[in-house]
Amino acid sequence: MPRKAILVALFACLTLTACNKVDPNSPLGQRQIIFKQMLKTSEQLGGMLRGRVKFDAPTFATSASLLATLSQQPWQHFPQARDEGKSSAKDEVWENQQRFDELAKQLETTTASLALLASQPALLPASLAKPFKQVENACEACHQEFRDY
Ligand code: HEC
Repeated sequence: MPRKAILVALFACLTLTACNKVDPNSPLGQRQIIFKQMLKTSEQLGGMLRGRVKFDAPTFATSASLLATLSQQPWQHFPQARDEGKSSAKDEVWENQQRFDELAKQLETTTASLALLASQPALLPASLAKPFKQVENACEACHQEFRDY
């Protein structure tokens, strides 16, 4: 391959269109970044409650509050009509938007409750287990209906 062609191919890769990677600035890229942060944050919380990481009330409160904020963010990056690209969203996201919104709201509500509880003084991990489970259930309920693994 002539040098110039290599450079052109390389550039195409850098702009992420020719390499089958998701453009981080596209709606798909944006929502996937947020979902990944949500996963990381909820794993931190779960780790503290299940003894994998030492429980620390202020850290838990900060992460719970971050998760509540993140939970409001992916939905705006689902365009009105299905977008192109390597998405694991099922067509149902666009075919049954009302149900999708309902489950999105459920996540917002459960994460807000967890964050509120976590902001109280004299916090005990035992009191957080159930509200955290409700958050996990909200993730799972939507994935079962709307995500292809
Ligand atoms: C209302 C529905 C809904 C809820 C609630 C939801 N998700 Fe998802 N999630 C999706 C959909 C749809 C996708 C696929 C997005 C795409 O690829 O277009 C997804 C994708 C993901 C991904 C993969 C991102 C990637 O890089 O491809 C992760 C990780 C994830 N979700 C974590 C979570 C966690 C953690 C929670 C709960 C704290 C959660 N989700 C709650 C609908 C939901």
